[in-house]
Amino acid sequence: MRPLPAPALAALCLLALPAAAAYFGLTGREVLTPFPGLGAAVVPAQGGAHLKQCDLLKLSRRQKQMCRREPGLAEILQDAAHLGLLECQFQFRQERWNCSLEGRSGLLKRGFKETAFLYAVSSAALTHTLARACSAGRMERCTCDDSPGLESRQAWQWGVCGDNLKYSTKFLSNFLGPKRGSKDLRARADAHNTHVGIKTVKSGLRTTCKCHGVSGSCAVRTCWKQLSPFRETGQALKLRYDSAVKVASATNEALGRLELWAPPRPGTPAKGLVPRSGDLVYMEDSPSFCRPSKYSPGTAGRVCSREASCSSLCCGRGYDTQSRLAAFSCHCQVQWCCYVECQQCVQEELVYTCKH
Ligand SMILES: *[C@@H]1O[C@H](CO)[C@@H](O)[C@H](O)[C@H]1NC(C)=O
Repeated sequence: MRPLPAPALAALCLLALPAAAAYFGLTGREVLTPFPGLGAAVVPAQGGAHLKQCDLLKLSRRQKQMCRREPGLAEILQDAAHLGLLECQFQFRQERWNCSLEGRSGLLKRGFKETAFLYAVSSAALTHTLARACSAGRMERCTCDDSPGLESRQAWQWGVCGDNLKYSTKFLSNFLGPKRGSKDLRARADAHNTHVGIKTVKSGLRTTCKCHGVSGSCAVRTCWKQLSPFRETGQALKLRYDSAVKVASATNEALGRLELWAPPRPGTPAKGLVPRSGDLVYMEDSPSFCRPSKYSPGTAGRVCSREASCSSLCCGRGYDTQSRLAAFSCHCQVQWCCYVECQQCVQEELVYTCKH
């Protein structure tokens, strides 16, 4: 049996990551080294190396074929996984579930809000990374955004290579395989959330222009299509996570197939609704993530803010207080001319961590 399209993507983006702590914070160039089983010194940059990389990623047969045909893609897939991971960890840095790798595969099998976020952020990261890779010349098969609709405006010139979202979304739908009707509610929800990720990147596409001409006359403008920074996409997805819609399944009588359906919440007069295409959807209430489980390492040892987050983050277990010395710049003076000279001061600062 072929794996379902949407789960295959998340598996690629999230399970392909080796669960080594050394993975965090590496740059795009170094991201190849944590491919498991290759040791530190191998992985030449060209030649058939990308075939080996494709074998190491968790891909369906069709995806592996695409990967092998396109040098550079394996690396882009890795970069996308890395981008999605870092963004997820940033957006959830203050939450009980902090997007740690531990427990990730358990989460992906369930239908929690967190599962929904993982699917969406993975597809968003891949869409974003591919579109950027095109404009940066990292892919043989695509280049800049060609934006035919904008060429007609005469004062505009297309000088800068725009992010190629058109190629990227086309590639992605091909990569995920054709949409197939499925009886399974989970598969439908996963596909829906994957699509929310793609859509969120799309809605962040902007036309950016720069003026040329005598002091601000703007006689000539150079314009290009530019994706918003991925941080903004991450923020938008986090908001959608906060307002995610719980769904059940219902058979659409007219179409005779299963649809996602959000039952009315108790106390609201409305009948059930089909979730909007921008809503993240989930099926099960999340665990508390307070204690170690197969979904997360729990919150013991997490650093918290006494005013803001300790009470919720530590789940009522309380927190330990430690003091440490922190260095900062002080007594700064402007020197003639023109730099600022500072001294280093140290100050005691308190660090709060959740108790076990
Ligand atoms: C997430 O929390 C766990 C403890 O619950 C901690 O070990 C881990 O370093 C945290 N991860 C990140 C990325 O902050």
